[in-house]
Amino acid sequence: MQMIQQTLILIKPDAMVKKIAGNIISDLYNLDIKMIGLKLVNVQKELAEQHYSEHREKPFFGDLIKHITGELHNQENVIAIVYEGEDAIEKVRKLVGCTNPDEAEPYSLRGKYGKIHTKTNCHETVVHASDSKENAEKEIELWFEKDEIINNNF
Ligand code: CDP
Ligand code: MG
Repeated sequence: MQMIQQTLILIKPDAMVKKIAGNIISDLYNLDIKMIGLKLVNVQKELAEQHYSEHREKPFFGDLIKHITGELHNQENVIAIVYEGEDAIEKVRKLVGCTNPDEAEPYSLRGKYGKIHTKTNCHETVVHASDSKENAEKEIELWFEKDEIINNNF
């Protein structure tokens, strides 16, 4: 059974320095899901640590925070987007590809645009995408105010 879902996409600083935000949004159009919220965020450490709190104990946590806050990529910002559509979470994760860019399918966003950061070994994964309904709800609430989401379904 198909379900209408909302999911959070973050276009990360590595994608911003590569100037591929447009390509990523263009690929997302092909999924036939609807953009219902979008903003540019200068990510502070506190938001970064909350967003990635599940990885707090991982060896790559420090570099992950430096990555998402732009410290590894010229202090770049993040574009945060909420999409809504049928099976949006799974559809987006499939387009995004697996976490290690070297192993991601060549046609996926990470296969096309991702790489392993040479100095830190940080996986430059180009985008973040929610991986479950529960995490999508938590993440959308963390990144967006209620009135920043456009709801045309009334
Ligand atoms: O992003 P995704 O949900 O696919 O992967 P994750 O396991 O939740 O990891 C979050 C992020 O941590 C990744 O997108 C990478 O940027 C980073 N990471 C890393 O730098 N090195 C790893 N070995 C694993 C993840
Ligand atoms: Mg994850």
